[in-house]
Amino acid sequence: MSVKIAPSILAADFANLSRDCEIIDKSAADWFHLDVMDGIFVPNISFGMPIVSAIRKITRKPLDVHLMITEPERYINKFVEIGSDIITVHIEATSKMDHILNQIAKSSIKSGIAINPDTPINKLENYIEKVDLICLMGVHAGFGGQMFIEKTFDRLVELKSLIKTKNSPTLIEIDGGVDNTNNEKLKSLGADVLVAGSYIFKSKDINKAISSLK
Ligand code: DX5
Ligand code: ZN
Repeated sequence: MSVKIAPSILAADFANLSRDCEIIDKSAADWFHLDVMDGIFVPNISFGMPIVSAIRKITRKPLDVHLMITEPERYINKFVEIGSDIITVHIEATSKMDHILNQIAKSSIKSGIAINPDTPINKLENYIEKVDLICLMGVHAGFGGQMFIEKTFDRLVELKSLIKTKNSPTLIEIDGGVDNTNNEKLKSLGADVLVAGSYIFKSKDINKAISSLK
């Protein structure tokens, strides 16, 4: 399977959001990655339901919704209703992970668990078989445009081997600091999905940037 590319809309030009989303819609990108931040779980505030709903109207590509919000269980049903295809919550943000995974499973969309760089991979152990995707953060969640943290490579190896041990089809998504200097290594170590914000939207040619990551 070739790697999937999920441009992070956080790095788009918000004054020209429909233009940027249309470019992604027509591009070779696979998913839209939508970063929802609440100013509590992370120090930054990005956007919420209205933007996700608006983007839903202009694309049929899967919406990969990354919730960086505290107690995400409060909002799962809302994000399902507005048309998310994948809902990812942080392992650090909730004590109700089983409940959340059940909520998402009931709606027959896909679930994801995101894990920050300082959280041990073994915290995921009990969830690997219950979740469709693990979002391995390459930076500390909260802001676009940060430098990729090198230890993510070792964490990817550890996560890949955990998934293999469980013999599970769980996908691995890498989020944060992804560009054309680390994409090949990430793919060779087993990444299935690469999220990229700045690298794609700050490039002169969005389509070229997407194909260079593939
Ligand atoms: C970070 C977000 C990422 C971010 C990626 O909190 O979850 O999705 O937008 O942006 P870049 O590629 O610029 O690191
Ligand atoms: Zn993200």
